[in-house]
Amino acid sequence: MTSADIIAMTQQYQMGNYTRHPVAFVRGEGARLYDADGREYLDFLGGIAVVLLGHAHPGVSQAVSRQVKSLVHVSNLFHVPVQAELGRVVSGATTGGKVFFCNSGTEANEAAIKLARKWSADRGREGAHEIVAAEGSFHGRTYGGMSATAQPKFHKGFEPLLPGFRTVPFGDTKALEEALTDRTCAFLIEPIQGESGIRMPPPGYLPEAARLCRDRGILMVADEIQTGLGRTGSILACERYGVTPDVVTLAKGLANGLPLGAMVAAEEVASSFGPGTHGSTFGGNPVCCAASLVVFETLLSPGFLDEVRRKGDLFAEGLRRVASRRKDIREVRGRGLMLAIEMEGETKEIANRCLASGLVVNSTAGNVLRFLPPLTVTDGEIRQGLSILEESLPREGGA
Ligand SMILES: Cc1ncc(COP(=O)(O)O)c(C=O)c1O
Repeated sequence: MTSADIIAMTQQYQMGNYTRHPVAFVRGEGARLYDADGREYLDFLGGIAVVLLGHAHPGVSQAVSRQVKSLVHVSNLFHVPVQAELGRVVSGATTGGKVFFCNSGTEANEAAIKLARKWSADRGREGAHEIVAAEGSFHGRTYGGMSATAQPKFHKGFEPLLPGFRTVPFGDTKALEEALTDRTCAFLIEPIQGESGIRMPPPGYLPEAARLCRDRGILMVADEIQTGLGRTGSILACERYGVTPDVVTLAKGLANGLPLGAMVAAEEVASSFGPGTHGSTFGGNPVCCAASLVVFETLLSPGFLDEVRRKGDLFAEGLRRVASRRKDIREVRGRGLMLAIEMEGETKEIANRCLASGLVVNSTAGNVLRFLPPLTVTDGEIRQGLSILEESLPREGGA
């Protein structure tokens, strides 16, 4: 099938809920993708921060294939060694809390919302069910995730939302202090806001938010679905801000592209999820867990995260060099390999031109270009991507 055939078939039989680029990918290798017509692309989006170790990672492929041949699924009514092992690894690599496995980011946040309310109810905190979230956040598409997502454009037409959510401006400690009341059970926060354009927390904001939550007996829930798992150069972005949240949600790169999500909660909080309180048929599926063990083995191997930080600096430096030659780049920002440029105008057409020249990048928040390459991207690929990007930017003075 050619790309055109695939696109036509998708359009005929699938719902139109995605704005898809007219490209059909059939194969990947490392940071490279290949379309149905044989064209090669450099992937600086990585399935939106998912393909941490690159496409067709040999270790992941081998682990998945071995697991598929031995055991694909049993119910969570039983124990499975690969899931048991991954629980140990996820807990040890993050906050030391207890782990619940699900299949996606929105499910991990849904679990966190339920856990926070249940924990509050278990402590007899009458009426303390409110979740505070930050403006510009993105927490997923289920009713819980969407209600926590403080961006009206995602709510339009889907009201009424779940009650009990309150929003505060991102980065405003004073507003947060006022919003955390005796009705609040949790503050849900992305350490760096991904979907709204790699918005960075002001210095001191996250530690101060953690202190406020701690002093008031409110849970700090870090949505590390996009920022976590080495993306910013540490396993959790919170680490880089000196913060240990009570609850952490993970997904995206957790199994390098296979569907797996997780929520990790401090033991005392986790105990509110007793038998029958929450669950998932597929959550913690053995095949996904096998892939995830390879992800952690790689992330935790000596020097790997140092390399992510070094390559992030190299990439950011390159972006700043491009920005220094132009007037229409307002800001270069991000951490590790979670980077962005904010432009004066819309970036959609620039992303389209990059794609036409063989570079996959993402336009988000209207005027931002976002870069989330595999963490295994090479220096040469970073330089090549920067050069395609620069050639795809509008001619200064023109459109
Ligand atoms: C910070 C954050 N939270 C939650 C989600 C939702 O994850 P999923 O699409 O796996 O449900 C995303 C997805 O982009 C995200 O970036």
